[in-house]
Amino acid sequence: MSNIWTPSSWRDFPIKQQPIYQDMKKVKNVEKELSTYPPLIFAEEARRLKTQLADVSNGKAFLLQGGDCAESFNAFNAQNIKSLFQVMMQMAVVMTFSGGKPVVKVGRIAGQFAKPRSSDTEIIDGIEYPSYRGDIVNDIEADAKARIPNPKKLLKAYNQSAATLNLLRAFARGGMADLHKVHSWNLNYMRDHTLGEKYEELATKISESLKFMESCGITSQNTAQLAQTTLFTSHEALLLNYEEALTRKDSLTGDWYDCSAHMLWIGDRTRGLDEAHVEFFRGIKNPIGCKVGPSMQEDELIKLIDKLNPDNEAGRLNLIVRMGASKIADHFPNLLKKVESEGKKVVWSCDPMHGNVEKTSNGYKTRDFANILSEVKQFFQIHKAQGSVAGGIHLEMTGQDVTECTGSTSSAITEESLGSRYHTQCDPRLNADQSLELAFMIADTLKEANY
Ligand code: PEP
Ligand code: CO
Repeated sequence: MSNIWTPSSWRDFPIKQQPIYQDMKKVKNVEKELSTYPPLIFAEEARRLKTQLADVSNGKAFLLQGGDCAESFNAFNAQNIKSLFQVMMQMAVVMTFSGGKPVVKVGRIAGQFAKPRSSDTEIIDGIEYPSYRGDIVNDIEADAKARIPNPKKLLKAYNQSAATLNLLRAFARGGMADLHKVHSWNLNYMRDHTLGEKYEELATKISESLKFMESCGITSQNTAQLAQTTLFTSHEALLLNYEEALTRKDSLTGDWYDCSAHMLWIGDRTRGLDEAHVEFFRGIKNPIGCKVGPSMQEDELIKLIDKLNPDNEAGRLNLIVRMGASKIADHFPNLLKKVESEGKKVVWSCDPMHGNVEKTSNGYKTRDFANILSEVKQFFQIHKAQGSVAGGIHLEMTGQDVTECTGSTSSAITEESLGSRYHTQCDPRLNADQSLELAFMIADTLKEANY
């Protein structure tokens, strides 16, 4: 097989987790149309993120990556985008102000549609259907016809991503991110909680500091950092025909960038060394991620790093560790030791969601907050013992007041109450309370460890 990379060279490799369409001619037409659409991001932005991630890998900043497990066409509205933006801003100020680290913010948003599934079919109320693979592929409705993959959904996903990104850019640059608005990020339904109060206290301290700075002449008008932020976008690049169509040659450098998002990652199920996803990713210049689950072997990980980041460039590769609270202590330390001893420059981030899924007796897929917290704590401890940098966190979270993950002190959701506001399209998400509680815990750890 030839070693020459092109945006389509992945097509010569075995590929997993792709929809099987009924009419390939329609798919080709959609791919052609997508390839004429404008890129969603500019290559220079992806390079900026890479530089910031290089700081993360050196311990000078912390990465916060979060958003829905799967975005949906139905839940697409301004309020949902705004509340995610606000809760990420809250978490970032908590970690920056209390934890003492600048936070690089990356949303799982504006493109996070396609889902890998553990099985090709699923049983709902005793009937077997083709699995739901995300709104970019088929409908979630339990109906045989609705589950047939429809290539037109690729276009709808692109359009929704463009509109989402447009609003995020407006929030980030147009005043919503102004630190003077730190109080207003507190979501209404949180204000009564002790956590909301803890956040209000911190917000008041920030406001006082801002007043002092203003009297010294430093204002939002003359200092952009006070008034604006950057929220980068990311998603799992699962559907490679969609990603190929949005991969463009940067006119400034001549390099290829996947312009569907700033950062893309490879899922734990599609990271095979000689498979299509790794082939595609090795040629794009964006910062990229790869999930690292409990089945990853030491030698395999080194080979993967060498393929995806042959120049050992800091900020290029984010290893997103998702072992589960009961497995991380057994599986992660040796992997970490191996990578560090070989001098590989990577960002280590912790996904405490995907190894901690449980099914309740009443049929809900959930995650217990105690397990999420435990995996994060162990992740930090293992890095501390190794003397390496715990760089970031990768969460499935929402700004909405949902009941999808059990536990936490701030929002005591039990198995019985999961049904009251269980809205996810796929995996259970942390709600805003749970996300903020986790941010305070991480801030304390960052401060103590002085990473
Ligand atoms: C995900 O991030 O939603 C996901 C499917 O993760 P993983 O590949 O780690 O299972
Ligand atoms: Co998920």
